Amino acid sequence: MKTSSRFLTAVILLAFLLWLKARWNSIQAQWPEFQQISSYPQQAHAKQEAASNDRHQSPSDKLRAPIRPSVPNRVIVVAKQSDDDTDWLMDELPDWQHAVYTLDDPTTPGFLHLPKSARPLKATAYLTYIIDNYFSLPSTLVFVHPHRSGFPRALHNEFPDHDPPHDIVYALKRLRIDFVQENGYANLRCTHEPGCLDEIRPFREPRDAWRSGAESVYAEAWKTVFNSSKDDEVPWVVGTPCCGQFAVSRRQVWKRGIGEYMWFRKWVMENGLEDEICERVVEYLWHVIFGRRSV
Ligand SMILES: *[C@@H]1O[C@H](CO)[C@@H](O)[C@H](O)[C@H]1NC(C)=O
Repeated sequence: MKTSSRFLTAVILLAFLLWLKARWNSIQAQWPEFQQISSYPQQAHAKQEAASNDRHQSPSDKLRAPIRPSVPNRVIVVAKQSDDDTDWLMDELPDWQHAVYTLDDPTTPGFLHLPKSARPLKATAYLTYIIDNYFSLPSTLVFVHPHRSGFPRALHNEFPDHDPPHDIVYALKRLRIDFVQENGYANLRCTHEPGCLDEIRPFREPRDAWRSGAESVYAEAWKTVFNSSKDDEVPWVVGTPCCGQFAVSRRQVWKRGIGEYMWFRKWVMENGLEDEICERVVEYLWHVIFGRRSV
């Protein structure tokens, strides 16, 4: 009897030790990630740059976009309507991660969805991607429309003479990642019209009736988004190639805190502007958000 109870105690003790060891291993495994987040931003930048320049290192997590670990560390973010076909991403650009939001249908499996209360705009989706993935961003991020090519629906893309015309796949295959890394931000459009050189003049007098409503609400938008109270902090001229398709480096995104992106998104959701005008205003804010001058 005594022997068997001793034996039992020994077995229980051993089991306990094994369990402790397993716990310890799992805590140790999570430790680097935890440290990385808690020491953010100073050390995390350098460490993450080094650790994941080519491959993703972070474990996936429900909030984040699906990560395919074997794919290089760069993402294409798209916001689509449910009837837009984005199969071209997988077919033509499999060496990118993809984060595709469906704006009008929160049920389609295989896509990302905005929070229920969110305003279903491209701007909301882009900012949601940045906010949800802020601490584990790939080193290069590209934001594009869902239409691969064609005229006029993909007019916003370059290369009208390519076959197919206005093909974003052709553009992205030629994108110089090293330039994006060096410069921080690149508009994906080179054609100046529309947008350059002075699309938005927030204080134009008299107002041009034919101009989009974006211009007349731009100054107020600027002041809210950038927390400025004075008109003289709003630029007189804003010009950038149109259409809000751009590439940005993680380092550039991190020049603003996550709170600022949440602030932008809150403004997008609550500004009361018509959808089209709101999207237009945001198109002429991205380059400034990502560190460029207004023109
Ligand atoms: C503006 O102020 C709000 C509230 O104080 C803050 O949360 C937000 O990050 C600020 N935005 C910018 C762009 O500085």
